Amino acid sequence: MMKALLSFAALGLSSMSARAAVLAPRVTGPSPLKFAGVNIAGFDFGCGTDGTCTVSGAYPPLAQYYGADGIGQMTHFVNDDGYNLFRLPVSWQYLTNNVVGGTLNSTTFGEYNTLVQACLNTGAYCIIDIHNYARWNGDVIGQGGPTNAQFAALWSSLATQYESDSRVMFGIMNEPHDLPSITTWAATVQAAVTAIRQAGATSQYILLSGDNYSSAATFVSNGSAAALATVTNLDGSTTNLVFDVHKYLDSDNSGTSDTCVTNNTVEAWIPLSTWLRANDRLAINTETGGGNTQSCVTYLCEQVAYQKTISDVLLGYVGWAAGNFATSYVLSETPTNNSGVLTDSLTVSSCLAPIADA
Ligand SMILES: *[C@@H]1O[C@H](CO)[C@@H](O)[C@H](O)[C@H]1NC(C)=O
Ligand SMILES: *[C@@H]1O[C@H](CO)[C@@H](O)[C@H](O)[C@H]1NC(C)=O
Ligand SMILES: *[C@@H]1O[C@H](CO)[C@@H](O)[C@H](O)[C@H]1NC(C)=O
Ligand SMILES: *[C@@H]1O[C@H](CO)[C@@H](O)[C@H](O)[C@H]1NC(C)=O
Ligand SMILES: *[C@@H]1O[C@H](CO)[C@@H](O)[C@H](O)[C@H]1NC(C)=O
Repeated sequence: MMKALLSFAALGLSSMSARAAVLAPRVTGPSPLKFAGVNIAGFDFGCGTDGTCTVSGAYPPLAQYYGADGIGQMTHFVNDDGYNLFRLPVSWQYLTNNVVGGTLNSTTFGEYNTLVQACLNTGAYCIIDIHNYARWNGDVIGQGGPTNAQFAALWSSLATQYESDSRVMFGIMNEPHDLPSITTWAATVQAAVTAIRQAGATSQYILLSGDNYSSAATFVSNGSAAALATVTNLDGSTTNLVFDVHKYLDSDNSGTSDTCVTNNTVEAWIPLSTWLRANDRLAINTETGGGNTQSCVTYLCEQVAYQKTISDVLLGYVGWAAGNFATSYVLSETPTNNSGVLTDSLTVSSCLAPIADA
């Protein structure tokens, strides 16, 4: 999510009282995509796109910490909708209680780990997403900000925690942007990958993100693909090193408007999938979504349909967002909760949910 400064205000108080239409789910054959997921946001609230993340601004999507019932949401998404992946955004500052480096704070990390363990308990895969835009408090990691060693120490600590969980995916960084050098960034990503593998997490998926807010449309044309293709495992292979791309459907790819204007096929998915096939690599789309409006349902459902045709190189998609977002948030995928009866948002029920094949 690229533009909005997330805060407590995002929770809102009003709720969209009525859906224009709730389409009846229609179960078709299993999707060729390996993963379909939802972002469970909240631990990232308080982060700006310059990597200024305040610990006090974070808002755990856990009822025990006075947030939304993220555990109930994930259980619903798995059991009722067929989802099998959740992305769990959190800031570097939160995990270390604002200390640059790799030492996890037992209190704040413990709260985040509660969400991770609940995710794993659903049987789904779970992405650890460091939501820092390649930065710490305004400065780019490895390019004027924290050193690669400090960032690698964070990933070493996290990989040590989750080395035996095969369903944890390591999302190195959310939405790098305006990087002085993409090749220098690739060296930072390499330092993180090396740290994760050396900590004993030898086989899990690691997600590598490029410049321009991880735009799927410019991943190849702006040099991110070529730079990140050089990142390897300890043995020189690239097994399970997957490119992490984002794409919204509004006019400026910001995910802030409830009006969608494209299904992204021509500008993003064709050039990306062509490059992935030619280079024998995989990608995953960890942020996409749209308003609960007719234009967004139309284009989102077209995008999902097209993504299924490139499942040989695209592992799946993750919608933005549920967790601590109110049902009134423009891109909300948070189910409405009527005395415990959960009803999905229009985009989820129309085609994002695996069982709701449009
Ligand atoms: C961990 O963070 C909490 C704030 O949540 C703070 O009170 C505590 O001192 C920190 N612990 C250490 C060891 O720094
Ligand atoms: C970033 O991506 C957007 C759309 O995804 C595009 O309009 C813009 O030109 C891109 N910027 C750069 C620097 O590539
Ligand atoms: C990426 O886009 C920016 C802005 O247009 C440009 O300055 C830079 O040279 C591009 N990098 C590559 C590798 O294409
Ligand atoms: C996506 O949009 C393009 C036009 O840009 C259209 O040709 C194509 O049929 C659409 N894809 C799907 C799956 O509807
Ligand atoms: C739904 O509301 C009930 C109370 O009616 C609450 O116990 C439950 O945690 C809520 N579930 C979600 C997913 O919000």
